[in-house]
Amino acid sequence: MVSTKALAIFFVVFGVWSYFYLDGRIPEQFPQQTKLKIMDATMKTYSNVISCLVSLGITNYFSPLDRKIGDWFILAMSTGFPWGSGVDSRLQITDTRIRDVRVKIYQPASLVGKTDRPVLVYFHGGGWSLLSVDSYDPLTRKIARESEVVVISVDYRRSPQHPFPDPLNDCFDVVEYVLNNGAELGLDPKRVAIGGDSAGGNMAAAISLRLQKRLALQLLLVPVVQILNWHQVGVIENSLYLNKSINTKNSMYFLTNYLNLPPEYAFEIHANNHTSPSFKKSKYMEMVDPKKWLPRKYVRNTELWDNYEMKSDFGDEKIFKTMEGYLTEPLISPMIADDETLGGLPFTYIMTCGYDFIRDEGIMFHEKLKHLKVETELAHYPEGFHNAIMFPHGPLKMDVGVKIVADIVRILKQKL
Ligand SMILES: *[C@@H]1O[C@H](CO)[C@@H](O)[C@H](O)[C@H]1NC(C)=O
Ligand SMILES: *[C@@H]1O[C@H](CO)[C@@H](O)[C@H](O)[C@H]1NC(C)=O
Repeated sequence: MVSTKALAIFFVVFGVWSYFYLDGRIPEQFPQQTKLKIMDATMKTYSNVISCLVSLGITNYFSPLDRKIGDWFILAMSTGFPWGSGVDSRLQITDTRIRDVRVKIYQPASLVGKTDRPVLVYFHGGGWSLLSVDSYDPLTRKIARESEVVVISVDYRRSPQHPFPDPLNDCFDVVEYVLNNGAELGLDPKRVAIGGDSAGGNMAAAISLRLQKRLALQLLLVPVVQILNWHQVGVIENSLYLNKSINTKNSMYFLTNYLNLPPEYAFEIHANNHTSPSFKKSKYMEMVDPKKWLPRKYVRNTELWDNYEMKSDFGDEKIFKTMEGYLTEPLISPMIADDETLGGLPFTYIMTCGYDFIRDEGIMFHEKLKHLKVETELAHYPEGFHNAIMFPHGPLKMDVGVKIVADIVRILKQKL
């Protein structure tokens, strides 16, 4: 009797879960539909678990518990276990501090004790607010192992508790230490790469503006490189896909966290209400205009591109005044740095994904650097999505994740 009841409950719960979660919003052309659906459902489950815990008064958004649960979900998706991977005899992994910043250092076994080794300093994604060196451990291990480069994964302080510039300063301090004192760690200061995905890519791009060719290369993976224009073609086009998980407009809360703004601004920013009519006509907006920088071939819905127009007759003056300093800050929007600064950047590898709501800015940044004669390579994966980099292995291993990571490994071996 009991087991029949349990079974019935299970099926009802499972039915409800499937109805609400496995509800499509998956690009029709994506080759591994089921895996992507499970990824989407798992992400939605995470956000519902947190909302539930918040409404029960058990925790707050972006609390240590929220972050811990986020890490468990990511690790479960990328390794099959919420506690992640065990030891790996091919790597020496050390938890330590550089200056005052927590880091995880991965040394390929073949390089332990050697000097003049190449190094990648990595900044994880998660909207400056979530995720950690722990949830990125499977990925950073893979990169270190396969590229035979020392990887230093930076556990920078996160927002909203630590808004701009704290996370950026932590990342900068580690990179600067490695450049100046790398020899103490057996590293070659002439072979220092930095990189990151999403918010991590934003900070990598900002740091490269300052350190220029002291760095051997930068990896900007699905990066945020501007916050001025959210009416990008890719934002509009991709609002139809994965729009309850990774492409949700709730992602805008990450920006209000980072910039220490009231959360009410999040959707106003998404609607481009954060720039005033006169700012919309300024040189800054021209720097982020898709008509100028986005080649039409990257757009699926070409009609959108053909009819694209930057409207400049609206905007909230009050929000603009609050944000003006941030909107003209290249350390937040590296794409608006002056040509001379951009022209001095090291080799820049940019990775973008077709179904990512911030697809266009990485492509536009690449076009701009090309225009300024910076050595740059764009790896665009039309079938990719924002967090595809997390799935080169594990139960949700996807071909696009495998390709993305293999290409990163190739570029590190080739350029470092
Ligand atoms: C999400 O995508 C579906 C189609 O996949 C669409 O009908 C819906 O309007 C989208 N939601 C938002 C908020 O854009
Ligand atoms: C943006 O501003 C317009 C005009 O002030 C307003 O009608 C609209 O609701 C705002 N959009 C959002 C998402 O707040």
